[in-house]
Amino acid sequence: MLHTVELKSSHKKTVFSCEEPSLENYLKKQAGQDIKRKVAACFVLEGENEIIKGYYTLSSDNIDRTIIPVELQKKMPYKTLPVTLLGRLARDVNYKGQGLGELLLADALKRAYAATVTIGACAVVTDPLSEHARKFYGGFGFISLESGRMFVPMQTIEASL
Ligand SMILES: CC(C)(COP(=O)(O)OP(=O)(O)OC[C@H]1O[C@@H](n2cnc3c(N)ncnc32)[C@H](O)[C@@H]1OP(=O)(O)O)[C@@H](O)C(=O)NCCC(=O)NCCS
Repeated sequence: MLHTVELKSSHKKTVFSCEEPSLENYLKKQAGQDIKRKVAACFVLEGENEIIKGYYTLSSDNIDRTIIPVELQKKMPYKTLPVTLLGRLARDVNYKGQGLGELLLADALKRAYAATVTIGACAVVTDPLSEHARKFYGGFGFISLESGRMFVPMQTIEASL
């Protein structure tokens, strides 16, 4: 079973490498600040000697009810809906082809769902950076919205746990 932990300063961020330079740079240069300022929570899958095999971030966000599919809008009584943003997710290139992306995503969704006991969020949203990423998220029940964002209702996550 996958065990992710909070990113800490001793993790070897500088050697992390993936296909999306922005996700590499974020971990190296920005994640620590975002954690300190409570802008994002960052979880990593550790390898030996505190190397990072993969990571993801979660933050609070909100979306306008009108952007979600009509059948779901009917069930939501508020104009603005609280959601959890899966801001970033990547695995190191040295670990590609091992299904780590799937494991990281499942862990992120589980964490997002568990947090709803404390802070409400009716869905997880993400902004895929590439067609590759869009296909990846689509394979796990994320729906594409017109804005380009992708969205999975918390009830769908609950049913998959
Ligand atoms: C998206 C991701 C998490 C999926 O993980 P996964 O299902 O375990 O996929 P794998 O690690 O087996 O990679 C699958 C293949 O896609 C390729 N690939 C991964 N990210 C890619 C990208 N952004 N653009 C093009 N190809 C990419 C890999 O090189 C690999 O190629 P191969 O089949 O020739 O070996 C993972 O590919 C990743 O971390 N990619 C880089 C960061 C990223 O794009 N994150 C999405 C955030 S929007």
